[in-house]
Amino acid sequence: MGRIHNYLLKATLCAAVVVTGAGCSRQHQAGAFEATGEVIAQGGGDAGVDGACVVCHGLQGQGDGETVPRLAAMDRGYFLQQMENYDNGARNHAQMSWIAGRLDNQARVRLADYYATLPATAPVEVSGVLPPTCPPAFAATLYQQGDPERGLVACATCHGVRGEGVGTGNPPLAGQPAPYVEQQLRLWRTGKRYGDAMHAMTGVSRLLAEDELAPLADYSAALPGATSYPALPATCLPARHPDPRSGA
Ligand code: HEC
Ligand code: HEC
Repeated sequence: MGRIHNYLLKATLCAAVVVTGAGCSRQHQAGAFEATGEVIAQGGGDAGVDGACVVCHGLQGQGDGETVPRLAAMDRGYFLQQMENYDNGARNHAQMSWIAGRLDNQARVRLADYYATLPATAPVEVSGVLPPTCPPAFAATLYQQGDPERGLVACATCHGVRGEGVGTGNPPLAGQPAPYVEQQLRLWRTGKRYGDAMHAMTGVSRLLAEDELAPLADYSAALPGATSYPALPATCLPARHPDPRSGA
């Protein structure tokens, strides 16, 4: 719909210019009127208004503090991979799967570029990002050091000591809503989210006990690796003791 409208608008503008004798030298520049990532985020692009990202992910891509993740400052490669995962079934979520299926590659790339430029700030209206107190000490130990006894590699190895994420494949956990982080761990454990490189997260999630998920999520989400998020007190972040057996 938007595209047809833009096309008609362009044709009309060109016709008007031709009448005035100035010609329409820009007519061949296809894409000059195409929607930018920001416009698609606000209007939903080919997914329509029901797919407008801002409705759920927030005007600044901040997420909702509950089960809608932050997109601001997300790595482009990871972002595009997740759109593909929703489309091909490696991730299942009624709305996201539907939306991803309606956006072509060009739209996805524009959205990825747009969200990558937004700062990972926590606007005041997002609550629940920070736990009121330090999560139990075992969460910090599991995250920063892993547990060689059960072959659990430290989360920090892949997600960073500050939860900032490492490169394209390993997303940030800092500044994601804690309930979202917990839910994703559970989805992997039960095989409902898959498609991760070398099944890293499937393996990790299955080495965790059920009652470890929520404290680990609270700890990971509150790490200081997302710019502008208020950091946990330093006492919540014990020094890391790399253990060669954990692969750290
Ligand atoms: C109706 C609400 C809704 C709308 C609209 C929506 N999303 Fe989502 N999005 C979610 C939820 C909820 C999740 C987490 C789903 C899950 O658990 O897998 C999510 C997850 C994602 C993820 C995965 C993030 C990560 O950390 O792995 C990406 C990327 C994403 N959405 C992009 C978009 C884009 C781009 C748009 C707009 C074109 C959009 N979303 C519109 C609700 C929405
Ligand atoms: C060997 C590397 C590795 C280790 C160790 C690891 N992860 Fe991951 N994690 C990944 C990768 C890779 C992804 C992205 C998978 C994908 O593309 O879907 C991921 C994704 C996640 C996500 C989803 C983020 C999002 O935005 O949807 C969560 C939550 C998560 N990991 C938590 C943890 C926790 C908690 C630990 C420690 C108990 C941990 N991970 C250990 C590699 C790792």
